Parts: sequence; C-alpha cells; structure tokens
Amino acid sequence: QSTVTVSPATLDFVAVTKNKNDVVTVPANYAVTVLYRLGDPLAAGVPAYANDGQDTNFAQRAGDHHDGMSYFGLAATGTAPATSNTRGLLVMNHENITESYLHLNGPTNLSGPAARPTAEVVKEIEAHGVSVVEVSRAASGAWSYNQASALNRRITPNTPMRFNGPVRGNAALVTVASADGTTGRGTINNCANGQMPWNTYLTCEENWAGYFRRDADAALRSAKQNRSLARYGIGEGRAGNYRWTSAAPADANDTRFARWNATADVALAAGGAQDFRNEPNHFGWVVEIDPYDPASTPRKRTALGRMNHEGCWIGRTVAGVKPAFYMGDDAQNEYIYKFVSNTAWTAADAGAADRLAIGDKYLDAGTLYVAKFNADGTGQWLPLVFGQGPLTAANADFAFVDQADVLLNTRIAADLLGATPMDRPEWTAVNPANGEMYCTLTNNSSRRPTGTRAVDAANPRAYTDPKTDGRAAGTGNVNGHVVRLRENGDTTEATAFAWDVYAFGAGEDLEATNINLSSLTAENDFSSPDGLWFGAATNPSGQVNPLLWLQTDDGAYTDITNNQMLAALPGRVGDGAARSVTSTLAGATATVTTRIGAAPGTRLKRFLVGPRECEITGITSTPDGESLFVNIQHPGEGGGPANITSSWPATQSGQQGTSRPRSATIVITKVDGNGVVGL
Ligand code: FEO
Ligand code: CA
Ligand code: CA
Ligand code: CA
Repeated sequence: QSTVTVSPATLDFVAVTKNKNDVVTVPANYAVTVLYRLGDPLAAGVPAYANDGQDTNFAQRAGDHHDGMSYFGLAATGTAPATSNTRGLLVMNHENITESYLHLNGPTNLSGPAARPTAEVVKEIEAHGVSVVEVSRAASGAWSYNQASALNRRITPNTPMRFNGPVRGNAALVTVASADGTTGRGTINNCANGQMPWNTYLTCEENWAGYFRRDADAALRSAKQNRSLARYGIGEGRAGNYRWTSAAPADANDTRFARWNATADVALAAGGAQDFRNEPNHFGWVVEIDPYDPASTPRKRTALGRMNHEGCWIGRTVAGVKPAFYMGDDAQNEYIYKFVSNTAWTAADAGAADRLAIGDKYLDAGTLYVAKFNADGTGQWLPLVFGQGPLTAANADFAFVDQADVLLNTRIAADLLGATPMDRPEWTAVNPANGEMYCTLTNNSSRRPTGTRAVDAANPRAYTDPKTDGRAAGTGNVNGHVVRLRENGDTTEATAFAWDVYAFGAGEDLEATNINLSSLTAENDFSSPDGLWFGAATNPSGQVNPLLWLQTDDGAYTDITNNQMLAALPGRVGDGAARSVTSTLAGATATVTTRIGAAPGTRLKRFLVGPRECEITGITSTPDGESLFVNIQHPGEGGGPANITSSWPATQSGQQGTSRPRSATIVITKVDGNGVVGL
C-alpha cells in the first residue's frame, strides 16, 4: 500500500461542452460501448428484451435504474477472484424503476382504489435489487456481457437475507415471515455501494421507507414506535410508492405484497397471518454480498446503523489498525457517519476464501460514530454507544434499552448527540494515497440563513442569485458542494478530524463572492454532486494515482446541460483558505466563515455529458484503469409510452426514432490503444 501522494499533473483531455443531446458525449479519442441495459437477459434461454412493456421475468433480466457498481476480477477460467483487466463480474444496484416504460401503457391503477394488476407488481418488485453479471474483453478490445454465465445472479426484494450484528434476533425484527428475527427477504432502493478488500460488495438501502403502506394505527403502537416510524418517514396515511399492497396474492401463503403494509391493525385483523408491522425494521441497512458465490445468502450488517444509506466506502486499510467505513444518510439535514471495526486489519484477509466470514469479522462488531463539524475547521466523531451520553434508558425524551435499540433508531440517537445536519450527504470516497474522505452534499432546498436550518460553516449557502439568462433565484443550497475531511493522525481510528470544502457547485455565470465560490468555469461548472469515486490506477512506478470522479444528479442546472461526470485532481484538506459567505433570502441575512479548498477551477474538468433526463451514477474500472464502467440512470424519466422523451441507448449508435429509453451500463476506453481513462 503506497502512502505517496501522486497526482497526475494534468487531466489530459479536452473538456466536453455542456449540452442537451440525447447521447453520452465523451472527449475526442474515447469510445463509448453500451454493455448492459434494463431488461437484458441474464440466463440462457431468456428471450431478448422486446422493450415494449410486455417483457416478463425480471428476476432473470437486468433490473432498472442502474446505480452504484463495482468490478471484481476473475481468473481466465472458472470462478476464482483474480486481478484481471479482461474478465470480471460487474455488481450493480438497481435503485428504482421508471414505471411508465415498464408496462404496455404505463402503470395500471397507480392511484386507488382499484387493485394494481398482480403481473405489473411482480415485474416492478423484481426490477429492483442488484445484478451480478459476468463481463469480458475480447482480443479485439470489445467488451460484452455473458448471458449464460453461471455466475450471473439477480438479487431482488424477494431474495432470502440474514441479519448479522447487534440487531440480529431482536424482537423488533419479528414478523409472521421471520419468527426469530434472524432472517428477512430482499433489499430495496439500493443506491451506492462499497467494495471490500476481501472481495465482497456492499449495497446500501436508501429510500426504502417510501415503499411502505401505513394506515392510521398510531393508537395501536407505543409512543416510542410512533416516534421511530415518524423519524424514518413512515407516518400514517401512506399508500406506498406504487401501491404494491393492493395486488392480489397468488394464494394464501403469498405475502410478497402484504409485507409492504406496515399497518398494525391490518396485522391484528388477519389474526397474525399478515403481521408485518415490523417489516420496516428490515430495511435501512448496509447489505454484504459475495459476488463469487451465487448460492450465498447476503448479510445485513446492522452494526453500521439504520438510515437512508447512500453508500459505504472503506477507509485506507493499514495492518494492525482498525478499519473505518464512511457513510452518508441522504435526506435533507441528515448526517455523515463512520463505523470503526473492533478488529484491526490483517492483510491476509484480503485473500480469504470464506469472504462473508471475513465480513463477519470486520462488520459485525465496532463503534458507529456521527460527525459534528465545528466552525474552526475541526470536527468530532460522536459515538453512538448505548449507555454513553444521552443514549440511556433514563433518557426522558427517548429511552433506549440496548445497543440494538440505538442502531434501529440511529437517526434519533444522532439527533440527541448534537450531530451537524448536512445538505444531503450522498456518496463517500477515500483518497487511496492519503486516506482523506470526501462526501458529496448534493443540495438542500430547506437550508436558510437563520432559524432551525440555519447556515453553518460546513453548509454555508442558503440561496442562489438570478442567473444571467434570467432564470429565477433559488432557495436553499441549490447546487450542492463536496466536503472532505482528514482524520487526526491520518488514522481511521481517530475521533476528531479537520475539514474543508473541496468544491462548491455553481453555474459559471453566477456571482463569485457568495455563490460561485470555487471559481468554476465553462469547462467544469456543475450542480448537485452525487456519485464520487477515486480511480484505482497506479502509475508506472506503482504509486497510487488518485484521480477523483464526480457525477451529478441535478434538477437545477438541467435547463443548461444534461447531467455530467467530471474528473478531478484532489489536492489536500487545508490547501485553501477561510472565507466569509453571506446568504440573503426572504429578508433574512447571515454571514458565516467556511473553509474552501484551493480553487479547483484548474484541476476539475468535464469528461462526460449524459443523455436527456438521466442521472449519472455508478462508476468502477478494471484494475489498470483502462476500462471505465459508468451507469446511466433513468434516461427520459419524465416521459412515457405516448410521450417518449429520450431514446437512449438506441441513439448512442446513431439510431433515431421512438424506442423506449433504458438505464444502462456503458464502458469507456481510449480509441487509439490502451491508457488510463482520464489521464
Ligand atoms: Fe439514491 Fe441519494 O441517491
Ligand atoms: Ca436516482
Ligand atoms: Ca445518489
Ligand atoms: Ca441524488
């Protein structure tokens, strides 16, 4: 493991121009190959995707809304892990669905009271989850996926799971389908990811709460249960995102739909046969998958807390030091967390054959911390440990009974500790050369100059001014920013850190005093940073080459350009300066001093612009950095069968017309021979 900071001197490509074309645009000398699309078959004999709303069997096809993704190398033949640049497994999340394109004429009975057709609901459920798909590069240089690979797998919301860590076996996990609270079914709204050095994949459950129905049942629940449900966004009077509970089951034992109804009185009226009042406690976790063993049961790692998990990235591993895992809770005014294992790192574990047992070793016992950012550029990691501080049975506000209770109610515990509410923490990434952690804060329309959501040093903007093209001013932190932190002593075990803001999103035409604080230009202006990943390439002397990739999921700047991906040279925490920032909104004004990294205007460059109405999210590469895999999520999401607003990826090969858009994985390589993408 190199500890040498080596950055490429320049980003050796010409910046892509902002545009609203219906293709993926990359710099000259780069090629885009569409590799793995919504509906592509994942087993021998599954028919090609018709893409007309009548396809079935999504448990054996690529799911929708490709998101976080990692590449795991394979030996030339067989199923063993190996460092390979030409054969591997792509493991990726299917976060959500664009319902309008999944069915012949869009969804039926999306609003009540009539039942949703069972076949539509089955399809929608199975289009969520995770894919494991074998990919390989031919001697010609062309990448393709192997439809018939025995390693291909779909994990869906129906796949058996087991719980690990302190919440395993807890009464709060017991349902009619999980009598002892040690097992559950499936994973949902899988957003970003983590790649473990012992060759497993972490998938993170983000906006899971939205799928649950809950009728009025507060009187049948304890005050504590009601508080917990409300804090996680499951108030009374909710039908669930897609009304899955309205579908008719196949038979009396079929609870695939009833399980999404968390209402207590429904459970009681059914005499317990449909008691899923605790089903929401099965979600909001980080889930570990062994991609090399299609028969393995994924493990929900409850020690890492329960929230809207965006992603989970491991800090630098050092032999004899306890590793850390960095996580964002993506909702407005939520927090940044890290989990520090109880077990110090042993390098030999990276090659272990029983990969999920290694996961047990590092991920089932440890300390969960939440971040507090101070105005002076320092910060603390506050421990979420039962019995410490306010996290006790004697707490009159919320009486915790044990550590499992703290983890089930991570958000409430973090509230009580006084953590810093952030502008929507999305992905975390760790600079492999020096261990510094970066976290995207995508935007926050509720940030204000004063009041309960007042600006602070780490979240200093609460408005955006009118643009030169006459567009209206925005409310809150419209364009987002990227915060980064350096652990004290450069160790993952630290309980304090230094921080600054790597870059503030903004249009290049916005005023520079309080909005375009990072001096962005037409080559690199962006809004709503989300995906974030350090390239793993090494330079010819074997040193780690920290090239940072930044992806956007924006609604505020899409009148100017489709969403994009930028390449960046990272710098270091503290390389910039303190700076005063003033926000004025609706008569309220506040000035705070923030910390801004050295202006990235000269070391941040737009590499890619996506097709219409997509989000760019999910990135990984081969170990040599010469093949870069990127996910294009929900192109044309605003349209439907009668109003197709994008026909990507058909448009990538020049086809026009009216085919339905599909989320898809692309692979980017250099046209004239090999070389690290971006350098
Ligand atoms: Fe799924 Fe916060 O993005
Ligand atoms: Ca998304
Ligand atoms: Ca995201
Ligand atoms: Ca987002």
